[in-house]
Amino acid sequence: MSAAPSNSSWPGVIRRYAEYLPVTDATPVVTLLEGNTPLVPVPQFVEAIGGKFDLFLKYEGLNPTCSFKDRGMTMAVSKAKERGAKVVVCASTGNTSASAAAYAARAGMRCVVLLPHGKIALGKMAQALMYGATTIAVEGNFDQALNIVRELGETGQVEVVNSINPFRIEGQKTAAFEICDALGDAPDFHFLPVGNAGNITAYWKGYREYQGVGKSDTLPRMCGWQAAGAAPLVDGQPVANPNTIATAIRIGNPASWTGAMDAVRESEGLIDKVTDEEILHAYKLLARTEGIFVEPACAAPLAGLIKSVERNLIPAGSLIAATMTGHGLKDPDTAIGAAGFQPTVVQPTRDAVLQVMGL
Ligand code: F0G
Repeated sequence: MSAAPSNSSWPGVIRRYAEYLPVTDATPVVTLLEGNTPLVPVPQFVEAIGGKFDLFLKYEGLNPTCSFKDRGMTMAVSKAKERGAKVVVCASTGNTSASAAAYAARAGMRCVVLLPHGKIALGKMAQALMYGATTIAVEGNFDQALNIVRELGETGQVEVVNSINPFRIEGQKTAAFEICDALGDAPDFHFLPVGNAGNITAYWKGYREYQGVGKSDTLPRMCGWQAAGAAPLVDGQPVANPNTIATAIRIGNPASWTGAMDAVRESEGLIDKVTDEEILHAYKLLARTEGIFVEPACAAPLAGLIKSVERNLIPAGSLIAATMTGHGLKDPDTAIGAAGFQPTVVQPTRDAVLQVMGL
């Protein structure tokens, strides 16, 4: 057998795509070799939902801190270091804080994270604490925490690394480049979850830029999905008390509101919503048909795809990409609650095990 393929030469997204990013030789690249995530075909999931198209999942949970945030954070923290910042700060539903804390540790910088108290998935909390970030649980929601962070930014003493920092969007657009590089062109549709709306903005920027330099010919229709209890972009107004089991996208007033709506309009895509019940169904279906375990927010676009099939919106033979933004292990509580069964406890004998097996 030939040697296993190695990706050890992958240099991280900044070095790989430097020509498309606002970096120079003087930029100190802070990287954990993020990016280069798999684009996994999922034909069994497609069959299970009655689709007649090809679906590829961009498995961003396989980044260094297990979410897509690392693409933007390598840029934001590198640029913060370049201009001599000592402290990075963010508000987060959990993944941005995990990523900021890791890249700050790597850069030798201090990190302060503001989290909505009691609404953070367990794995994400573990990450912020483990990477040593000053972790502040705000008795309020993400939107309130982000307002405080904006005010902290105005003091000029800290570098804000939420996606209101344009370098975050720059880094995150590299996922669109990777998809085009892997497929040879852009997909027909791109499905993704939408919370603060930075990622849909970043993907659309990436797809347009790649087409602009002739690296791809076509553009996808951008299809963003929100959770029904936190769907300001769909409902057309901010939501004061957003709520959803998909805590990553529990956001009522997205910072990149205009970017998201521009992406949808310009690409002739759509922005729509799915219920928590639909999210949990898609979450389990993906795990059980394909062996891919994502966090609940990722199931929003999958539930959206199921809806789109029911509504006959996807022409046969389409090529669809969907971003699986975070790893399933981020949120073990929701997984254990949603699985629908518990381990069967038995005496340590062969017969007891055979009985459970039904043999
Ligand atoms: N999926 C996951 C797993 C996320 O963590 C987020 C956002 C999104 C989707 C939505 O992306 O905000 O660019 O529209 N998480 C942010 C955070 C808000 O703080 O970790 P978006």
